[in-house]
Amino acid sequence: MSQNNDAILATIPSPCFVLEEQLLDRNLAIFDRVQKSAPIRVMLALKGFSLFHSFPQIRTTLKGASASSLWEARLAAEEFGTEVHVYSPAYRAEDLPEILPYASHLTFNSIGQWEQFRQQIAAHTPNKPSVGLRINPQYSPVKTALYNPCQPSTRLGVSAAHLGDTLPEGIDGFLSHNLCESDSFALEKTIANIEKLFGKFLPQLKWLNFGGGHLMTRKDYDVNHAIEVLNAFHHRHPHIQLLMEPGSAIAWETGFLIGKVLDLIPTDNLVNVMLDVSFTAHMPDCLEMPYKPAIRGAHEPEAGDTIYRMGGSSCLAGDFLGDYAFERELAIGDRIIFEDMMHYTMVKTSTFNGVVHPAIGRIDKDGKFALWREFAYEDYRNRLG
Ligand SMILES: Cc1ncc(COP(=O)(O)O)c(C=O)c1O
Repeated sequence: MSQNNDAILATIPSPCFVLEEQLLDRNLAIFDRVQKSAPIRVMLALKGFSLFHSFPQIRTTLKGASASSLWEARLAAEEFGTEVHVYSPAYRAEDLPEILPYASHLTFNSIGQWEQFRQQIAAHTPNKPSVGLRINPQYSPVKTALYNPCQPSTRLGVSAAHLGDTLPEGIDGFLSHNLCESDSFALEKTIANIEKLFGKFLPQLKWLNFGGGHLMTRKDYDVNHAIEVLNAFHHRHPHIQLLMEPGSAIAWETGFLIGKVLDLIPTDNLVNVMLDVSFTAHMPDCLEMPYKPAIRGAHEPEAGDTIYRMGGSSCLAGDFLGDYAFERELAIGDRIIFEDMMHYTMVKTSTFNGVVHPAIGRIDKDGKFALWREFAYEDYRNRLG
């Protein structure tokens, strides 16, 4: 995260999501190195980050976008414009005719859905998508059930036991998504499990997509190890095109959410800081995962510190997070900067309670702020009728 100066911050409205283009470039450089050092094509998972104004910058490096619905597929085709890899847990029959012209790759979550739609795909000429199946590699390092696709009786992906002895005709590839903010050793274990459980099918595959969850842009990620692991797999199965579709890792630490202190409400042991941003409406992963985001200039409270609890702008009783301490006492009107708020925020926001939706903008490579979007009453109203 960069430390923007006060003059730039003063030009940003409140509240506002702010992408820092220089930081996005830094992440893209890592994926550029990976793609040049290992035989893998990297796609952007729109479910994690779909701020399409930044797609021209991202597509200088990434090879395409992955989508999990008709609307994401359309956004990928119209705004990203290269390969579109579509996977949905369950396709709606009425969506498929619209998805087909967008999809270069189409992955099914079950054999049943593949059988349901195979005739329709066969009839789609001239550009039939390459068809894949999501598999369950029966390994995930993710401890939080909400984010563990391989939990017992999972609804996501076909397990080896259910696949039988032969791959259904027409299947070109596999998608394995089982990681979340994971390291290269988790990728290595995933590959070991795929080879162990699905090894007999590998000779028939044209491509294998390792999904998302590869946090290659986190400082402690061993990129060289991942490159070794991918090259070793390629050496064993040179006919398989390797793919991955990270979301978080692309937008990791590339921007912030800036808000403002509206009120300060002291209680016996702490001060409630009433903000113009909401955890439930604007940063839902903080409550769902849960995790405590870093706030610029704040630290863990120590003995003697004034304890501040960050209160969201909705009426939800649990719309708060804490506790934090600051170098100096907070005052009404102070700006509060939540770090690393680009991934799984803007794609998940709501206008619950009619709370103001943060504007969206960027700090460009010259250090100047520009707005992309502000929201108005009509955005709230028009979702409902
Ligand atoms: C199928 C699939 N691919 C890719 C991703 C992106 O994962 P991440 O943002 O953790 O990299 C997800 C996230 O849920 C997913 O479900």
